[in-house]
Amino acid sequence: MNRLGILISGRGSNFEAIADSIGAGKLDAEIAIVISNNPNAEGLRRAQQRGLRAVCVRSRAMEREAYDRLVVEKLRAERVDLVCLAGFMRLLSAYFVGEFPQRILNIHPSLLPAFPGLEAQLQALEHGVKHSGCTVHFVDEKLDAGPIIAQATVPVLDSDDEGALAARILREEHRIYTEAIRLVLSGKYRIDGRRVLPTQ
Ligand code: GRF
Repeated sequence: MNRLGILISGRGSNFEAIADSIGAGKLDAEIAIVISNNPNAEGLRRAQQRGLRAVCVRSRAMEREAYDRLVVEKLRAERVDLVCLAGFMRLLSAYFVGEFPQRILNIHPSLLPAFPGLEAQLQALEHGVKHSGCTVHFVDEKLDAGPIIAQATVPVLDSDDEGALAARILREEHRIYTEAIRLVLSGKYRIDGRRVLPTQ
């Protein structure tokens, strides 16, 4: 069975969507551990309520690699083979990325490479784009930068505010994160430069 490690910082709705997909038999995986860097993360509470192993590893005032070593140790102890960042608000060190080569995924609420970083939905609104969306990608040390596994688009409506656009994007996030995880777990893809191409 594939063992997932999920890293969160806040609400945890993407984590819950993954957990629901597993529960519905859409993913051949189990959640080995949920780790939050924020002790007040709602997602941590939700994970505990679901009876999952869920722990806080506080990041405040810690040097990046020292923090990442603690997290990697926990992931290793749980024999995690795929790491899913789900609203985890930290860049990973080269050490962390090197420990799980092409085994770390992230979800971002824009059509990368447009609008990386914080408040992607607000960036999209303010730029005036007519479509936005979300992206699941492999993680490297750069911000929102690795090869793209899946994307979905949504329209930006004239009446949208940040909340309305974020909610429309979030529905797609919950859908495509499961699809991307399924593809990666199946192993039926190859990476050609920046392109993630299905095989078979
Ligand atoms: C999502 O919009 C995700 O794309 C971004 O952070 C948000 C996390 O939301 N990286 P949640 O904690 O999964 O509800």
